Amino acid sequence: MTRLRLNGISKHYGAIQALQGVSLSIEAGEVLGLMGDNGAGKSTLVKIIAGNFPPSAGELRIDDRPVVFHNPRDAQREGIEVVYQDLALCNNLTAASNVFLGREPVKRIGPFGYVNYAHMNRVAGELFRRLKSETRPRDLVRRMSGGQRQAVAIARTLLSEPKIVMMDEPTAAISVRQVAEVLDVIRRLRDHGISVILISHRMPDVFGVSDRIAVLRRGELVANKKADQSSPEEVTGLITGAIETA
Ligand SMILES: Nc1ncnc2c1ncn2[C@@H]1O[C@H](COP(=O)(O)OP(=O)(O)OP(=O)(O)O)[C@@H](O)[C@H]1O
Ligand SMILES: [Mg+2]
Repeated sequence: MTRLRLNGISKHYGAIQALQGVSLSIEAGEVLGLMGDNGAGKSTLVKIIAGNFPPSAGELRIDDRPVVFHNPRDAQREGIEVVYQDLALCNNLTAASNVFLGREPVKRIGPFGYVNYAHMNRVAGELFRRLKSETRPRDLVRRMSGGQRQAVAIARTLLSEPKIVMMDEPTAAISVRQVAEVLDVIRRLRDHGISVILISHRMPDVFGVSDRIAVLRRGELVANKKADQSSPEEVTGLITGAIETA
């Protein structure tokens, strides 16, 4: 099933054309590696899909229905979640508190409301198990490795049973072993039927986990093909412009 379809998406910031007529679709349970040089328009595309701002032109469809997002909440309601590059975690809180940040369950006893930490720890623990992450709900994020932090940020997206999870450079600043863990987590999401859009500059990561690869160059989509029908060399050529399209 086609989860998300973009038809002729364009975006300009004043005179700058950040995206031009981008058409692209993502199936359920598919990992799409989105590549492109600095300024190619990757983050702009993610922000449009996440409802941060509307496209200047073009149409988004979810499960073959046209959708218009006025804000990120609209996109979340359609099952779209984003893990931003900075992760936006609170270091002084536990893993479970970060998973529920802003969505804390409240238990009412008479006139009083209490945050239901037991429930938070239980649900967060289940999410980490689902991701096969060794992160424990009560661990402080401050003491975690980069890979574990990624797992917390990803577990947070799963609270709402998303259809699409987008990740902006999840493996840019972590160790080799942790990269392997994050790529495993991405595979788990896919195995649960979630569509993943992975933005990365790291060729081995993209080829290690993506079913399909799309390349943006100066706001235009210059390739969109199965990963096993491409190669890091071809993608590098597409990114730089040495190869026109593929
Ligand atoms: N808020 C903004 N106002 C004006 N121009 C912007 C804005 N955001 C992005 N741009 C421009 O739009 C183009 C696409 O930027 P975008 O951030 O989408 O690229 P990117 O592919 O994510 O790059 P990077 O790999 O550096 O993150 C660039 O020319 C950029 O300078
Ligand atoms: Mg970017």
